[in-house]
Amino acid sequence: MNYEEASRRKAAELKGRTGVRILALETSCDETAAAVIEDGRKILSNVVFSQIDLHELYGGVVPEIASRAHMEACDRVVDQALREAGTALAEIDVLAVTRGPGLVGALLTGVNCMKGLAFASGKPLVGVNHIEGHVSANFLTHPELEPPFLCLVVSGGHSHLVEVSDYGEYRLLGQTVDDAAGEAFDKAARVLGLPYPGGPRIDVLAEAGNPEAFQLPKPKTEGRYDYSFSGLKTAFINLVHGIEQRGEPLPRADLAASFRRAVCAELVAKARLLIEERGMQGMPFALAGGVSANRELRRMAGAMCDELGVRLFMPEIHLCTDNGAMIGSAAYYRLMRGELAGLDLNAEPALRLVAN
Ligand code: KG4
Ligand code: ZN
Repeated sequence: MNYEEASRRKAAELKGRTGVRILALETSCDETAAAVIEDGRKILSNVVFSQIDLHELYGGVVPEIASRAHMEACDRVVDQALREAGTALAEIDVLAVTRGPGLVGALLTGVNCMKGLAFASGKPLVGVNHIEGHVSANFLTHPELEPPFLCLVVSGGHSHLVEVSDYGEYRLLGQTVDDAAGEAFDKAARVLGLPYPGGPRIDVLAEAGNPEAFQLPKPKTEGRYDYSFSGLKTAFINLVHGIEQRGEPLPRADLAASFRRAVCAELVAKARLLIEERGMQGMPFALAGGVSANRELRRMAGAMCDELGVRLFMPEIHLCTDNGAMIGSAAYYRLMRGELAGLDLNAEPALRLVAN
């Protein structure tokens, strides 16, 4: 029996069984992360090895350095995830790995690592969409959450409003036409002289500032529920340069607070418009992705949901940014749909959540 056939049989035996353990690996960007997840919802271990120190010097992720660092860390991180879960590889039912989107070299190190492990152990393998992983982080924090729900996915590369119609089924309702929200935060942070990654640092700095100090333009988009952050970003850069050219000291906290308010107000405004215009108040609303760790976004989403009578779900802060646990959760639901990867699994750097 070849690998694919054996893996299909093993996966079929798992249907209807409880205690299904998935070992998941995430290497799409600058975190080498591995986790052991039970039944798609319970975290047995979640190990995140961040490469931030390696990239900070360059002000952003250097793809070649990321790939090399993933290669060096993969085995160690996987071993640690097994150890912390108190489990041996033999007790793992299924392997999972992020197949895209992300940096091609970074993705390939993870994909090859897990393909090797799958072939050697004969265990079924699931290839996971990273964005679906972010959405699934909510399943780990909220055992009661089930589709359908509306989800705002905001990360370094994506800003999407999607309806999660069922496990693994999505309807794209809005998206950014230029920069992603996280990207905008990172660029604004750089102008303020904050080190990479800027999003979390702007968030901290903004807590001490006045969000009304500076007025920034409201983004305009053709699509009613689409986003655009590049105009906001340019206006912010011009504002900062103007202050510098006048030789005045930068009111960094006020600037950070004003920028954060403008981005978050826009994120929440479009979600609100969609919920109200489409009458989606009965559907839960969830946040996902690195930017969903933002305090202002969490507060503003909370206020909107209170006002509209919508149930709000957010991942715990440590599950908002890249991690292996979310990949393990997403993999479980793909496994239940019988979606397995073969040994020809490849990295897909431009993989989308929904084809459009
Ligand atoms: O989801 P993620 O970890 O990786 C991608 O899939 O892109 O998101 C990383 C992005 C970065 O742009 C980072 O600056 C941003 O999320 N981010 C934040 C916060 N924490 C992370 N942005 C604003 N406020 C935060 N607290
Ligand atoms: Zn991510």
